[in-house]
Amino acid sequence: MLEKAQGLDADEMFLDLEDAVAPDAKDEARGNVAVALRNGDWGDRTLAVRVNDWSTPWTHRDIVDVVTHAGDRLDCIVLPKVESAHHVAAADLLLTQAEQLAGLPVGRIGLEVQIESARGLLDIDAIAAVSPRNEALVFGPADFMASVNMRTLSVGEQPPGYDVGDAYHYALMRILVTARAHGLQAIDGPYLQVRDTAGFRRSAQRAAALGYDGKWVLHPDQISAGNRVFSPTQEDYDRAEAILEAYDYATSAEGGHRGAVMLGSEMIDEASRKMALVVAAKGRAAGMQRSA
Ligand code: GLV
Ligand code: MG
Repeated sequence: MLEKAQGLDADEMFLDLEDAVAPDAKDEARGNVAVALRNGDWGDRTLAVRVNDWSTPWTHRDIVDVVTHAGDRLDCIVLPKVESAHHVAAADLLLTQAEQLAGLPVGRIGLEVQIESARGLLDIDAIAAVSPRNEALVFGPADFMASVNMRTLSVGEQPPGYDVGDAYHYALMRILVTARAHGLQAIDGPYLQVRDTAGFRRSAQRAAALGYDGKWVLHPDQISAGNRVFSPTQEDYDRAEAILEAYDYATSAEGGHRGAVMLGSEMIDEASRKMALVVAAKGRAAGMQRSA
């Protein structure tokens, strides 16, 4: 898996030391992850390691070992099961010591914080604010569902009997709003039925539609679907670039310093420009070109 992952078209790779690793295999996994980070050909992808959470005996070893052996290759630590700001503060302090010990610049390694319990969701504002290392808030649907006793075993699917909306909406929206308020990325967690690409797409589409920046993928089959869902459509991208262009012209001296103008049958103003900037930025990041 560590070999194969190096050739995949995902923006970020995270190597797991947490729930995908059996307790007796933690030591070996730590070593494998350090070697893979150090020797792997990861290109310009963002590289992260998910460490074990603070209720286990392993978090400190995970962080210190990985940073000591491969800290210069590491962009982020994924911190799971974050329940309070203290969990993030502790990881931040430990990272600072580990970076110092390894002779690395202090503060470069970021944190991606998993919100996956009732407690974590309630304290999310303090969690998001506590460390300048924070880069993303990540929804963990499986642990979250367990934490609130949601009555289903199908992660990412609606629980049978709940037929009035999206059972994940509150958690997703609360994480999204908090992420935006603190300038962080909002990332949706895994869809476990790895052979059900239509199901993955459905789940990803909901998060993308709300404004999420991305979603975890667990299997190569989910990658192209994820990349497509989180990129704008060509039509929306073209429209966004056209709005930016029209608005730039309208507000310029040449355009008569107008703050609201018509583009086709739509009135556009400063708020339209802000919305267009979001879509255009995502399209440019995905390497899209204007077709119109
Ligand atoms: C991911 O860690 C999840 O619990 O969904
Ligand atoms: Mg989890």
